[in-house]
Amino acid sequence: MAEDGARPAPVPGHAAIIMDGNGRWARQRGLPREAGHREGARSVRDIVRACREWGVRALTLYAFSWQNWDRPSAEVEALMGLLAEFLADEREEILTNQIRLHAIGRLHRIPAPVRTLLDALMAESAGNQGMILTLALSYGGRESIVDAVNHRLASGFRHDTPAPVTEEELTGLLPTGILPPVDLVIRTSGELRVSNFLLWECAYAEFFFTPTLWPDFRRAELRAVFEDFSGRQRRYGQVSPPSR
Ligand code: FPP
Repeated sequence: MAEDGARPAPVPGHAAIIMDGNGRWARQRGLPREAGHREGARSVRDIVRACREWGVRALTLYAFSWQNWDRPSAEVEALMGLLAEFLADEREEILTNQIRLHAIGRLHRIPAPVRTLLDALMAESAGNQGMILTLALSYGGRESIVDAVNHRLASGFRHDTPAPVTEEELTGLLPTGILPPVDLVIRTSGELRVSNFLLWECAYAEFFFTPTLWPDFRRAELRAVFEDFSGRQRRYGQVSPPSR
């Protein structure tokens, strides 16, 4: 196995992570849930840095689901506060390292002060070519598909006979349309679910589930996951490995 800082090869082009287990991490230590989220934000920083260093083209993090709005308001506020801190603290590093920040989800619900930081950093980093860091915020996979279809229907009504929608068109209408296909989805905390994450985009992704709670998930384990991924044989529904 490689040294901690060494680059695993080959890395997935697009890795997506369901960051789960912050609450359990806190409970195991007799701490409030918010403490788990705060430690989880440290993992976010480490994983983003590692992916950038190792040449991952796109990293998508499930930071806040559409369903998470139903959590107690104090927890929602704590999560929004951590997001604001992340955007302010990491701004310099994101820009210096040529990272493009992107966000997917029903962003209209994000509180205005956080939204302002988010919009500003997305605009400032829009031309960066190093890695696309996508934060799934106020996000749901089904909601995302519904919104794309409704958008298409609304524009289709301008024509007498709207053209049938194609797979390529729907892919492009989704907010993930600017990203490469998802190669690998990682979920921490031992849960074996997709939880409404990138439902359309995961069609040919590989999955990796680890019992590690998100606040304990750092680059050493990510490197091991990537090494496992590099040994997978992807067939895309065919009988022998296609030359993609
Ligand atoms: C799931 O753990 C995690 C979340 C709902 C939020 C993820 C947020 C962070 C990692 C920190 C802030 C994010 C950024 C981008 C700075 P859970 O609360 O459902 O854990 P549990 O299942 O153990 O209760």
